[in-house]
Amino acid sequence: MPDIKSQIESLREEIRKHEYQYYVLDDPLIADADYDALMRELISLEQQYPELISPDSPTQRVGGKALEVLQPVRHRIPLLSLDNAFTQADLHDFDRRVKKIYDQAGYMAELKIDGLTIALIYENGILTRAATRGDGTIGEDVTLNVRTIKSIPLKLKQPLPRLEVRGEVYLPKNEFVRLNQEREERGERIFANPRNAAAGSLRQQDPGVTAGRALAAFIYDITYIEGHSVETQQEALAFLLAQGFPVNREASWCEQIEEVYDYCQRFEEMRHTLPYEIDGAVIKLNAFAPRQSLGQTAKSPRWAIAYKFLAEEKETRLLEIEINVGRTGIIAPTAIMEPVILAGTTVGRASLHNFDLIKDKDIRIGDLVLLHKAGDIIPEIIKPVTEKRSGEEIIITPPQNCPACGSQAVRFEGEVALRCENINCPARLKESLIFFASRTAMDIEGMGPALVEQLVERGLVREIADIYSLDAQNLAAIERMGNKSAQNIINAIEASKQRPLHRLLTALGIRHIGAKTARILTREISSMDEFYEVSEQQLLNIPEIGPKMASSLLSFFAESRNRAGLERLKQAGLNMQEENIDGAPQPLAGKTFVLTGALKTMGRQEASEKIEALGGKISSSVSKKTSYLLLGDEPGSKYDKAMQLGIAIINEEEFLHILQQYEQAT
Ligand code: IVH
Repeated sequence: MPDIKSQIESLREEIRKHEYQYYVLDDPLIADADYDALMRELISLEQQYPELISPDSPTQRVGGKALEVLQPVRHRIPLLSLDNAFTQADLHDFDRRVKKIYDQAGYMAELKIDGLTIALIYENGILTRAATRGDGTIGEDVTLNVRTIKSIPLKLKQPLPRLEVRGEVYLPKNEFVRLNQEREERGERIFANPRNAAAGSLRQQDPGVTAGRALAAFIYDITYIEGHSVETQQEALAFLLAQGFPVNREASWCEQIEEVYDYCQRFEEMRHTLPYEIDGAVIKLNAFAPRQSLGQTAKSPRWAIAYKFLAEEKETRLLEIEINVGRTGIIAPTAIMEPVILAGTTVGRASLHNFDLIKDKDIRIGDLVLLHKAGDIIPEIIKPVTEKRSGEEIIITPPQNCPACGSQAVRFEGEVALRCENINCPARLKESLIFFASRTAMDIEGMGPALVEQLVERGLVREIADIYSLDAQNLAAIERMGNKSAQNIINAIEASKQRPLHRLLTALGIRHIGAKTARILTREISSMDEFYEVSEQQLLNIPEIGPKMASSLLSFFAESRNRAGLERLKQAGLNMQEENIDGAPQPLAGKTFVLTGALKTMGRQEASEKIEALGGKISSSVSKKTSYLLLGDEPGSKYDKAMQLGIAIINEEEFLHILQQYEQAT
């Protein structure tokens, strides 16, 4: 038992090290798959020895019960805010005020991250509480949610008796875009900017929801420390980093206020190239000693100031509204505007998302509108400039019917989106086809939006399976298409019939089932026929598959129109199996491998792929069903387990020998 205990603890240390490398230093030492394998090993050990689970284990990030309401907590040290500076002169004023009290120079200039403040408390090196800012005195307890943020350590490198720190939780720009896309597809309200999205994600009652949001954080302030002392902000940042905290790397020591101003200007220009949003810079007197004597105003300290960037906003004219119907039937309005240059790019279109939003903001055709980029990326109309209305502006009304097929537009309870429910709607069909043929799906080269448009408009394709009945003559009839390119496309369509099942599954565009999920599914469920029969429990037994994915998949296969469509694809000769396409030999079919320890000649990922290519399966833990344990250097507990169960153990040399034997045959 003590053995297992130390084995588990060293596995945890190993995982913490890799999380730090990945999430904090942005410098991973191992492949994601190898990290996943370590995690799975830990999970399986903790399942075997549940009494050894501790709250600071990397497996325990998502846990605890969903709360009714977030509990209020009082901050021992109130969270102040900062005075603002907008100009170079404001910075000089700040510098003069500081120098009256403390005339040695030296500031830390940091980025002002546009997220929400978080206050963390560690006791004996363990994260015990996380709270939002609230009104500065009373915040909300969001400990369970903050624990799901992978870059925030649950355990410090040193077990300091007490440490209280502050920082900013934020949503990276690309995650913001992804999250809003998902929400829009589900017909849900979208977040206005990454900060709102981060706040909404952190203030969830269910930590499971927060965990799915890929929040990140930067820690920039020590408010209380026992067991160590720091004298300057520079030391504080270095100390925080060494304890495992994510610390922003753009902080810079500046001797004079002029350098501070340069820093501000540099980042004001560069802000669009950063992966997270900033709204300014924060300038802090580096030395802590004079803080006390500098004191504070009613709500902000005199030793720091926030330099605020100008918001990038422009006015332009709204010319018309374009209405589009997406793959899932959502009918969405897009604003077409006179093009303007905004935050470095020319902008002429902005999604208006849904008709509620148009009504709430009272946007009219012909309005001058104020435009910015949400999350620094997505063009968005903030509001109409009502003072400049002529009276000629036209009020926008939601369509009663789908603009593409004329069927009635419907709105479901609890959704903001209007939808076209006709699965044969040509607009939906076009989007579905473009997706079906796209590179992540069936990868049919040459079948892009322009061709799809023609195929659907000319009635050559009325449902997806129709593409498999096209011939070169059909295509050659289309404008500007030569015989040769027509034949190339026919060849590409033909070749797509051999794609493995996970690609076909992706191509169907089932909600929540993207390329990655499709791959995971087909590892376990390897033929289309099996999908017809699959049960909810079977799906939920796959670790990566959650209830939403399962129910979406089940309802897709329950729908008779979908089954009929699949039947037609099958008749057309599409491969409906994951493995053994075009008769590749599967010598390892039915064999399950477990990997432990490091291999010398290849990574675990590569080894897994090779085994799978030969028809074998990979499992993360040893059981009676395991056929072989592949033993690398420094094996983990799986070795003992395999010995106990009498599982065949092969070393790397033997493994390479097996590969050689079969790979030659293929
Ligand atoms: S220092 C005593 N540093 O900006 C105040 N704040 O009003 C200590 N913020 O909401 C704050 N990045 O959450 C500091 N590098 C940074 C920051 C930062 C963002 C936020 C902070 C607060 C506001 C300041």
